[in-house]
Amino acid sequence: MAVLRATDVHLAYGPIRAVRGCTFHLDEGETVAIVGANGAGKTTLMRGLCGLLAPADGSIEVLGGPLAGRRPDELARDGLLHIPEGRGTISNLDVLDNLRLAYEIRPTTVGFEAAIEAVFARFPRLKERSDQRAGSLSGGEQQMLALARAIVNRPKVLLVDEPSLGLSPLMIGEVFRTLREFQEAGMSIMLVEQNVVKALKLAHRAYVLRQGEIVLEGKGGELAQKTEVLEAYLGSH
Ligand SMILES: Nc1ncnc2c1ncn2[C@@H]1O[C@H](COP(=O)(O)OP(=O)(O)O)[C@@H](O)[C@H]1O
Ligand SMILES: [Mg+2]
Repeated sequence: MAVLRATDVHLAYGPIRAVRGCTFHLDEGETVAIVGANGAGKTTLMRGLCGLLAPADGSIEVLGGPLAGRRPDELARDGLLHIPEGRGTISNLDVLDNLRLAYEIRPTTVGFEAAIEAVFARFPRLKERSDQRAGSLSGGEQQMLALARAIVNRPKVLLVDEPSLGLSPLMIGEVFRTLREFQEAGMSIMLVEQNVVKALKLAHRAYVLRQGEIVLEGKGGELAQKTEVLEAYLGSH
């Protein structure tokens, strides 16, 4: 069953048509990667999928119903979490309050205290930093916090945009390990990455976006082997 389906979607900023006629889907429990060069339209696509940018044309279905007319906060309550490019944490709030906000979108019977313990078990560094402003954390710690929001929020669908951007190799490894844990817990994940090799390894399926259009799709592992084809589309990988 598809938890997300885009049909012939066009997204534009005024006259700039950033996404042109994209059709794709994400099945329940699946991890799908969207890869593409800088400026291909990946972030724009993510904004469309979480309701931040209304399609100029085409339709999007999320969690069994049309996206049109549902506000981003309603979608978040229904189980769609968007971790935007550049983390999406609130820099003036401390670590704990950032997590509390994510929890309160979808409170569970587990309770905040228990949810937070799961975060601190996964990311002990965040426990040490729990009363620090998010804006004062290192880039890697901010990405941990962004991913930790998904641990307390427990979304059905996670849209995550360039989680490894600007991080050290050690932190990149940590990011992908965390995504794999989410995957193993049954979360449906749409992952945008410029780190193509790692993204294709993690993903069940992937789409290659080029200048706003899907030019290639396939199983993650199969696409990973087509490195020459990918290079032609991505410039590098
Ligand atoms: N807010 C905006 N206003 C106008 N054009 C934008 C805006 N954001 C992105 N674009 C343009 O849309 C295209 C796709 O950008 P983006 O979705 O950010 O690509 P990617 O995430 O793949 O790097 C680019 O040509 C970019 O310049
Ligand atoms: Mg982007």
